[in-house]
Amino acid sequence: MLGHLLHLRGIDSVIVEDRSQEHVIERVRAGVLEQGTVDLMRQVGVGERLLREGMRHEGIYIAFDEPRARVRHRIDMAGLTGGRAITVYGQNEVVKDLIAAREASGRPVIWKAEEVSVRGLDGPQPRIAFTVGGEAQELACDYLAGCDGSHGICRPSIPPHHVQLYERTYPFAWLGILAKAAPSSTELVYSLHERGFALFSMRSQEVTRLYLQCAPDEDLTQWSDDRIWAELKTRLRTSDGWEPNEGEITQKAVTPMRSLVAEPMRYGRLFLAGDAAHVVPPTGAKGLNLAMADVWRLANALAAYYERGDGSVLEAYSERGLRRTWRAQRFSWWMTSMLHRSDSDNLFDHKRQLAELEYLVSSQAAMTSLAENYVGVPLD
Ligand code: DHB
Repeated sequence: MLGHLLHLRGIDSVIVEDRSQEHVIERVRAGVLEQGTVDLMRQVGVGERLLREGMRHEGIYIAFDEPRARVRHRIDMAGLTGGRAITVYGQNEVVKDLIAAREASGRPVIWKAEEVSVRGLDGPQPRIAFTVGGEAQELACDYLAGCDGSHGICRPSIPPHHVQLYERTYPFAWLGILAKAAPSSTELVYSLHERGFALFSMRSQEVTRLYLQCAPDEDLTQWSDDRIWAELKTRLRTSDGWEPNEGEITQKAVTPMRSLVAEPMRYGRLFLAGDAAHVVPPTGAKGLNLAMADVWRLANALAAYYERGDGSVLEAYSERGLRRTWRAQRFSWWMTSMLHRSDSDNLFDHKRQLAELEYLVSSQAAMTSLAENYVGVPLD
């Protein structure tokens, strides 16, 4: 997206990716786009398929045990936010559309780059070196954007005393599956059960996406398809008989959960964006959307510099980004702690969670707070 936004402003860029094109297209990730992400994609000409195939959701359900029944409560996000909504569209579909736009622009992407390193970050011309097809190359740049994820090389290339890390790991993870099954609900269901969290989502009219809370070191070989379905149904089923439809499981994976913020999001001429700068736990689906907000802000800042010689927007990049980041961190942490069971929790904690959920679904103010954060605050 950053490459595309820079292209539209006439700014050259080279994208250096260490994976193959097939890998990034096929790797299934999250799938919830905030209103601002959808609007941005449409405004910059990469939203055509999203508009056709994306599934606009104006509400979500929250399921939990009430004294006499297990109930799904709907939160009317559009009604509570003046018409804003989320769109379900796989992250890898977004990536596919952006690769197509990059190809159409004729600007370069280097796939399967090996031995990638950066240097000279605090000087006037930072460099990125890599090997591709056995050949060593080095590019001299005006700026580097570290968009290489939480395990990338950019953040660790900053001298440690120039960056402060704030981190929390959670004592659980998500086991996620894709299944060839028609979604049995038109909207997502976030569920707290005494056995732990579960989430019902989807990718299309034929594909259901489901998650259940598991241990961080969960051994997938212990999870037969039958065991996964039994656990999902136990945790999701409500007293009215609603449960997910079963189908062939086509993918299984464990997603770890942590919160991480690097401050500042910049060192010299290296700007961090997305997971290279901050990681959120998946509950609430903020990760991709935060990354979109970062690169939108970074592209605008670089354009102000190249078009008007105004470097002040670049100077403000980190501070503005951190404000949005901490807001998303707070929300993701809150959704996570409200909906997961932890081994260190006792029965008091579970009762407190149920009271919080009961308050949430009965208070217009509490539902509005969730809704406005869930659909996302406008890009800033
Ligand atoms: C999905 C992922 C999330 O983290 C979430 O909160 C909701 C939906 C998904 O993959 O569909």
